Amino acid sequence: MASNVPIIDFHAHILPLVDHGSQSVEMSCALLSQALQAGVTEIVATPHFYPHKMTVSEFLEKRKIGFDALSKSVKGTPLESVKIHLGAEVALESSTKYLSELDKLVIGGTKAILIEMPMFVRWQKWMFDAVCDIQYKRKLDVVLAHIDRYEERDVLSLIDIAGCLSQINASMVLTPGGRKKARQLCYDGLLHFIGSDVHDDVERNYKVLSKARKKLNGEMLEFFYSNSAELLK
Ligand SMILES: [Fe+2]
Repeated sequence: MASNVPIIDFHAHILPLVDHGSQSVEMSCALLSQALQAGVTEIVATPHFYPHKMTVSEFLEKRKIGFDALSKSVKGTPLESVKIHLGAEVALESSTKYLSELDKLVIGGTKAILIEMPMFVRWQKWMFDAVCDIQYKRKLDVVLAHIDRYEERDVLSLIDIAGCLSQINASMVLTPGGRKKARQLCYDGLLHFIGSDVHDDVERNYKVLSKARKKLNGEMLEFFYSNSAELLK
């Protein structure tokens, strides 16, 4: 992989006390330290936003408090070198109230929004309609979060209909079958980003990104990281 490509984690619950991810500033610092050791240079912080739990304003306030606390804690330390972009992992819910404020939840200064589809159900028409609404009517660029978690036929239908981007969790490529599928999705232009989806420093931590790096060839990693860099530019 070319050394000038930034290593960007596109999906991480690294901000303290915003969601069920990091539960303290200390835990967030431990995660940042792991990220640094894994060679990560930039992180897209994507705390969960559940529309039925809080308003967009409440979420943004909570996220700001978490980000400010972490920034203060790492100031003047090597951890400060890891650049954090603010984003959200927005759960798609049937209530449409929050949709008008989605533009406040985009990643950094981009138009990209990370959307988490409902789990454990076959996707229904309202879900397809909602994603198309975000993509076409509200003109945001939908990135489907961790598509490796869902029924492949649902994912492929939605990408076909809505033309959205997609992200996998690094855990997907740890198995030969997962790697083969991920490679095919990239070749077909259906997969664009990879993320750690870290939630804590012990269980769902940065080891997954180091392991994935050993399993993937440099070309594929460069593809993922270049896409992230291009988006965040
Ligand atoms: Fe997540």
